[in-house]
Amino acid sequence: MTGVGPHPEPWPDDERLDPKLLALGDRRNVVDRYRYWRMEAIIADLDRRRHPFHVAIENWEHDLNIGTIVRTANAFLAAEVHIVGERRWNRRGAMVTEQYQHVRHHSTVEDLVAWATDAGLPIVGVDILPGSVPLDEATLPKACVLLFGQEGPGLSEAARAAVTGIVSIRQFGSTRSLNAGVAAGVAMHEWVRRWDPHPAGR
Ligand SMILES: C[S@@+](CC[C@H](N)C(=O)[O-])C[C@H]1O[C@@H](n2cnc3c(N)ncnc32)[C@H](O)[C@@H]1O
Repeated sequence: MTGVGPHPEPWPDDERLDPKLLALGDRRNVVDRYRYWRMEAIIADLDRRRHPFHVAIENWEHDLNIGTIVRTANAFLAAEVHIVGERRWNRRGAMVTEQYQHVRHHSTVEDLVAWATDAGLPIVGVDILPGSVPLDEATLPKACVLLFGQEGPGLSEAARAAVTGIVSIRQFGSTRSLNAGVAAGVAMHEWVRRWDPHPAGR
């Protein structure tokens, strides 16, 4: 059994807590600090702490990695996830995390660029392409959009033209590339390592 059972009485006097969860138990995939919290209270708390990086993924062929990317963006507390192209995406890998994560849709790369320009955010392409800068040596702006391509084609021509630069994750084996969801996880963790390091400085 995952999660926690009914909360022993008397219940804490805290309006963030959901009486139904207190009565029946909380089996959701949430960290312990949010046990028994109402979903809106969790989202409000996350909104107060979100990191200033955004994640964008091209979705022309219903890439199955999008769910993984949404879940990982939730774990690393990205400001928002942007899906470019098809509106529909496969939610399976997200494991319900999309309900706690702001997800915005853009029909075209141009729409994403217009949104990012208004928000004052540079778009950094992430792909293993000739001329890309290794991620571990690259300048990574604190507030930015990290844009990923999809399985197969990688970053589209429109996306390549729109980015301020392209960073790549160094590889050593025979495969041409990582899975897009894995690449997104590595890139988000690199952002966290640079901009929200462990408080003890370890
Ligand atoms: C499967 S890859 C596309 C591969 C590419 N078309 C190729 O085979 O040359 C899908 C996406 O994952 C991300 N990706 C995969 N490996 C990467 C790496 N080593 N560095 C940066 N991004 C990577 C990129 O966003 C890429 O667009």
